[in-house]
Amino acid sequence: MKKTFVLLSFLEIFVSIGWTQPQITVDVSNPGTGISPTMYGVFFEDINFGADGGLYAELVKNRSFEFDHPLRGWKKIAREGAKGDVLIYRDKEKPENARFARIRVDQEGKGFGLSNEGFRGMGLRQGLGYVFSVEGRIAAGKRLLLKVELVGSDGRTLAEAKIGGFTDQWKTRTCIMLAGKTVAKAHLDLTVEGTGALDLDMVSLFPKNTWKNHKNGLRQDLVQMLADMKPGFLRFPGGCIVEGFDLSQCYQWKNTIGEPNQRVININRWNFEFKHRPTPDYYQSYGLGYYEYFLLDEDLGAEPMPIINCGMACQFNTAELVPMNQLDPYVQDALDLIEFANGPADSQWGKVRADMGHPEPFNMKMIGIGNEQWGPQYIERYKVFAKAIKARHPEMQLIAATGSDATIFPNGHAEIEYLWSFWRKLKPEIVDEHFYRKPEWFLENVDWYDEYDRQGPKLFVGEYASQSVGVGSPDNRNNLKCALYEAAFMTGMERNADLVRMTCYAPLFGHEEAWQWRPDLIWFDNLNVYGSANYYVQKLFSLNPGTHQLTARVEGVPHLDGKKKALNVSSTLDKKTSEVILKAVNVANEVVEAAINLQGVEKVGPDAIVILLSSEKLTDENSLAEPKNIYPNKTIETINNAQFSYAFQPCSLTVLRIPIQ
Ligand code: AHR
Repeated sequence: MKKTFVLLSFLEIFVSIGWTQPQITVDVSNPGTGISPTMYGVFFEDINFGADGGLYAELVKNRSFEFDHPLRGWKKIAREGAKGDVLIYRDKEKPENARFARIRVDQEGKGFGLSNEGFRGMGLRQGLGYVFSVEGRIAAGKRLLLKVELVGSDGRTLAEAKIGGFTDQWKTRTCIMLAGKTVAKAHLDLTVEGTGALDLDMVSLFPKNTWKNHKNGLRQDLVQMLADMKPGFLRFPGGCIVEGFDLSQCYQWKNTIGEPNQRVININRWNFEFKHRPTPDYYQSYGLGYYEYFLLDEDLGAEPMPIINCGMACQFNTAELVPMNQLDPYVQDALDLIEFANGPADSQWGKVRADMGHPEPFNMKMIGIGNEQWGPQYIERYKVFAKAIKARHPEMQLIAATGSDATIFPNGHAEIEYLWSFWRKLKPEIVDEHFYRKPEWFLENVDWYDEYDRQGPKLFVGEYASQSVGVGSPDNRNNLKCALYEAAFMTGMERNADLVRMTCYAPLFGHEEAWQWRPDLIWFDNLNVYGSANYYVQKLFSLNPGTHQLTARVEGVPHLDGKKKALNVSSTLDKKTSEVILKAVNVANEVVEAAINLQGVEKVGPDAIVILLSSEKLTDENSLAEPKNIYPNKTIETINNAQFSYAFQPCSLTVLRIPIQ
């Protein structure tokens, strides 16, 4: 069939004359390599208030007064007739968490104390319980009480409690508070009843219903978004925060375990990274630390993929290096981490894990040596880590980096080629590549992995996102165009699933009022969460991976222009359910009708599952107000012949699951 096809794409008009109907031939009789069960995963970094103020359910900011300004996030309360002072002390005997606040009340009046603003307020839900806890000690006076109030932005008290029982020794006191109303921006008021001085530290407020009700747990609704994706792995804790602005700020996992009050807080490098998005109240409490990450992996059924510092600070910042003769503690940290995750409960670090509540090992199988590292300094450090880890743990899969996105290097791809020349020889099991580019790049490069060397290491596309404005910018949007062009690229990764064994989008979370970087997969505020269009693309791939590759030959596909194909497809077989899965991304503003042939299949259907993700315009987005503007629609359609025609909707990702015999 010949017809004239006119495609209107966003802001562009491309005309392709005289194309034939696209033919998609799926060779079902020769399934290829197994798709890795860890093909689709997630990458978590504490950026955009992803951990503190986000996933980590703690509602009190700067709970232990350890921020650079000890009272950041706090303010003094001196109600009518009250007199006193708030003093900050540094206690040499508590090295990890040295500071505490002393509230001295000279005249009680209507209340003297401190108020905490939370992370852009505190989100509370009516009828839900909140666990307040505080470490307290009486420094002067007797029988002092602490009045605890949850207060809405209108000044009304939503819950109130009084805590006593303080002595001259540090003691943790706790109470449960029931929120009387749902509010997004509450705050916490603490006032002292009686005159004297009360010392306070580790002031905390947690929702009772954390994810799986874990103590020191995570926000249920945010984890649910991850659980819904059924991720194959979780890459954590970064990202650039692993490297730190300089080495004094790099991520040290041992500071993130044990009781929360023993974790050593650290400035978050995204606090000051972008001059246009300063976030001076952004610190890492490490309440969400390595133990919690491993627990989250277990809950999600995802393989843990920690990324460790390899003796290099962020090369976009100070690029500080640990001298080679001082690398041992860093290497030892990596070995100890493996023991913490996998060692028996009576080993040194296995015991720490067991004491935290998890005697069974976490069964970690892979570890990333460095995040976005490059240059000869990386290679020489990588070799030391690889040698030490492999000597002790030959089973551990090593992930090596390829620097950052090639477009940020002055000499483009050469920097990355330099690293690859070593990876071919050193043979880490997995090499990690990152892409942050304009949407068009993703569409033009769906065949990026077609010609890669099959003899070398396997590939991990560990960070990628299409940037609507083409560069790192606060103007980037999570729109349908970006999502679909990524989906097209993902069909390319899936077609090369023998080589590309793992992929994940970056970054994962963005707080609507406290982000530094966009686009992000999942957006939230203090009460709500929604998935971007990109989230639903990731989810559809992740929930429909299939078990084995199938070759899908596509002919007669119209091009928008140059290399940009209007229709991109990949196909897999799900041997467990006996279904052919076909993913098709139509980026044109027109229906593209394709003739599909499932070659080698005798019996088909009749009830195929069709999941469609589409919207009217490529500029469409989801938002807090319209969280499901772009949302997968699942239907059952009759397909009962191995040869059939299918009309792929304009601007859409379609997943067909076709039963076969
Ligand atoms: O995803 C945000 C940042 O982008 C990561 O921290 C870093 O690895 C990359 O440059």
